[in-house]
Amino acid sequence: MTAGGVTADADPARTGGPGDVAGLRRLAVDTLDANWEHDHTVPSRTLYPHQWSWDSAFIAIGLAQVRPERAWRELASLFRAQWADGRVPHIVFNPAMRVGAYFPGPEMWRSADAQGAPTVATSGLVQPPVHALAAWLAYRRAPGPAGLDALRRLYPALVAQQRYLADRRDVAGDGLVCIVHPWESGLDNSPAWDEPMGAVGADAAVMRAYRRHDTTHADAAHRPTDLDYARYLAIVTAYRDHGYSDRDLADAHPFLVECPLFNAAFGAAEHALAEIATLVDADPGPHRVRAARVTEALLRRLYDPSTGTFQPRDLRTDRLVGARTVLGLTPLILPDLPARHADALVVEARSARFGVDRRMDQPLPTYDRTAPDFEPLRYWRGPSWLNIGWLIRRGLLAHGHPELAAGLRRSMIGLVVGAGCHEYFHPDTGAGLGSPAFSWTAALLLDLLAE
Ligand code: SER
Repeated sequence: MTAGGVTADADPARTGGPGDVAGLRRLAVDTLDANWEHDHTVPSRTLYPHQWSWDSAFIAIGLAQVRPERAWRELASLFRAQWADGRVPHIVFNPAMRVGAYFPGPEMWRSADAQGAPTVATSGLVQPPVHALAAWLAYRRAPGPAGLDALRRLYPALVAQQRYLADRRDVAGDGLVCIVHPWESGLDNSPAWDEPMGAVGADAAVMRAYRRHDTTHADAAHRPTDLDYARYLAIVTAYRDHGYSDRDLADAHPFLVECPLFNAAFGAAEHALAEIATLVDADPGPHRVRAARVTEALLRRLYDPSTGTFQPRDLRTDRLVGARTVLGLTPLILPDLPARHADALVVEARSARFGVDRRMDQPLPTYDRTAPDFEPLRYWRGPSWLNIGWLIRRGLLAHGHPELAAGLRRSMIGLVVGAGCHEYFHPDTGAGLGSPAFSWTAALLLDLLAE
């Protein structure tokens, strides 16, 4: 028995006790039901009480199995908040929540002042575009006329989401999307952002003027620091004061990075849209062409032959960042990644840095566990997260590594058996961290159990 109750050979979901499949499914469904809020699922009642963009995508994948009608409502409610330019905001604020329920709230974002924003208050940032993949997988889990209708309605919105990213966010003109805030990566305080964030002028003391909401619900030692938050707010303010316009970003915006995960999701979305297009009588051809272009651009711009992995590119310095994070492995989700590069990523995944093997004695960390600044408790600087493991497992299956994928699956199920549907987990002990009832953990657990 090792971290989170994972054993080398037994499937933790089939060993009886609290880890039996029926018990785990019940836990997952109860978690999702408790977090359902009229037309969407909150990631967590305490830490994240509104609707989050990529959370909703992962949640829809799990809901499709148990509450298919809610899966489609989840995606539909998110896309109702799509801006006129096609951006899908990373937070959609629930107007029924009290002021101060989340920081930074609508008063900081002021979306109503921006051109093309929806009536409901939102943030002005985006998150990795995993929604087309989610819609496609939800349909495969719950095929039928209702799903097909939902896909027909979603397809133009998903196409507009991709068009926004391709047309407005290709800051370097190289075929890749540029993120303008670490929150857009989804991995807020990943060591991958330390170099670009170091150039953002901000002082932790400004946080005295605000009340952080997250540290009243989670241990401050498990969350980003005040200096991180001071920088997050400085970047939000710069983008907001620019009207959330993507024009002339290269001139002055303080954070401009090409992220491997964001761009892998961007490419995977075109593959998924090609599948959806064939179902809704649209032309899959252009999606396939665009998907191939994204893979080619990722290889040209973000693959580092000296490390055998993908690294973010800081557009302010035009250099690849050095930190070896789990972001670098995520292009495995691209089915057309050449075998040579997929093989190199598998070597990186199997190294002591990430420890993926068929036994998976330790959970997959989000950062190189041999690095001196590896932090097993702090958010995205080491802890294990189910969405990342779930994506990499898909990639391992796509590139012919079913045994490694099975090890990763067992380790993820073992984390929930050991600690419940936590937000993230200690990468050595499997202890639960962050929110104890986290929606995407529940949803992706359901997906893993169904395989
Ligand atoms: N992940 C951010 C937070 O921790 C928001 O996107 O609040």
